[in-house]
Amino acid sequence: MEALKGIRILDMSHVQAGPTCSQLLAWMGADVIKFENPAGDATRGQLRDVPNADSLYFTMLNCNKRSITVNMKTAEGKQVFVDLVKKSDIVMENFGPGVLDRLGFTWEKIHEINPRIVMGSIKGFGSSGPYADFKAYENVAQAMGGAMSTTGVPEGPPFVTGAQIGDTGTGLHLAIGLLAALNQANRTGQGQYVEVAMMDGVMNLCRVKFRDHQRLTRQALSEYSVPTYQGMGEVPRAGNDSGGGQLGNAIHCRPHGANDWLYIVVQEAVWEALANRIGPDIGMPNLATDPKFHSIGERRKNQPLMWTLINKFAEKHTKREFMEILNPLNVPCGPIMSTQDLATDEHVKGREMWVELDHPQRGKWWNVGMPIKLSASPAKIERSPTLGEHTDEVLKFVLGYDDAKIASMKQAGAFSTPPKTPKKAA
Ligand SMILES: CC(C)(COP(=O)(O)OP(=O)(O)OC[C@H]1O[C@@H](n2cnc3c(N)ncnc32)[C@H](O)[C@@H]1OP(=O)(O)O)[C@@H](O)C(=O)NCCC(=O)NCCS
Repeated sequence: MEALKGIRILDMSHVQAGPTCSQLLAWMGADVIKFENPAGDATRGQLRDVPNADSLYFTMLNCNKRSITVNMKTAEGKQVFVDLVKKSDIVMENFGPGVLDRLGFTWEKIHEINPRIVMGSIKGFGSSGPYADFKAYENVAQAMGGAMSTTGVPEGPPFVTGAQIGDTGTGLHLAIGLLAALNQANRTGQGQYVEVAMMDGVMNLCRVKFRDHQRLTRQALSEYSVPTYQGMGEVPRAGNDSGGGQLGNAIHCRPHGANDWLYIVVQEAVWEALANRIGPDIGMPNLATDPKFHSIGERRKNQPLMWTLINKFAEKHTKREFMEILNPLNVPCGPIMSTQDLATDEHVKGREMWVELDHPQRGKWWNVGMPIKLSASPAKIERSPTLGEHTDEVLKFVLGYDDAKIASMKQAGAFSTPPKTPKKAA
């Protein structure tokens, strides 16, 4: 983990969008100090599966970080923040609109404290424009960034996708921005503000749908299996269509359970071999030369029928058997893998994408591994920190505070939640 060795990140981020970014940077070797409200990141207690233990929601997004709890609503807590800003290369946050400003720390203020620092902010909709004041969660971003309106089938409701493109997708965008800004700071000595709006990130991931949006002004979308026409205006939901120049779809296989599907791409180059293999079995020995399918244009026109024929062939085969038939023909395809399939898959295990860890509160658990493989900086995945586990360590060894100073700050409530004021009797 050498790539980001020596880079310190003051990570005020919470929930998923920010933590997913800082976890990746920690896996590349950065020293990530998770700067938490004394009550802790809310996800520590959300969707708990083991009583009194940090939830998987938290542990899976906060590996290889140190945790320090600081009450930013005290003068002492603010001082700790200022001191850490001076000692960090990056500060990052994904609070609701205006939260950090209300705490007294605008970007201008942070820049003044440490001109070299790079600041990363995730907001639902950015800091400008009519939506700037709105909070956002994953599915709000999917709704507003174009993903939901283009996912599902035309006659059904819009759908969210299980991949967390609003949160984790935005975290990835932020990581790229932070590394670019860090590079510039190394050259110029000047940090900068890096902002990623979740809505913008989702739009970026839906880029091909905006390609189709513009094509619709001139033509129908011939590769779509659902009806389209020039001037349609909105890109329709197109089920499992491939969305690219090659036709693709999910084919239902034996024994027809929820995940007994194989996604196949009927690439132009493989049609003849595919048709010659499946045609005889479905009573169409001349499928390859059938005028309804012999050119890509015809296959596009008769797409629903083509999928019906391929589905008919698949009725007798499991998804793995069908894949084995298609692999030698060079047909790009992949079984729909369930979480169970993936958690037990040899390929996944071999690539260290499903990693076993230990945790003092919850015992053995598993995390999804590091998807970016750096040859000279392999990630070594370590468990997430317990709440405030490294508060003293950071105060002493990063900030150089002595025991007396730490004790007096503790006394002043710098690292704890203020006791609740009892409600006055009516
Ligand atoms: C995710 C989100 C909706 C959660 O909303 P929320 O739970 O109301 O949390 P907020 O970020 O708005 O507010 C955090 C509060 O904790 C307080 N807080 C945070 N860190 C603190 C600390 N170290 N010490 C004291 N108080 C702290 C803030 O001051 C703020 O209090 P305020 O409301 O009095 O200003 C919101 O943070 C958001 O929209 N974030 C940007 C978009 C985003 O990242 N969404 C995806 C999350 S996966």
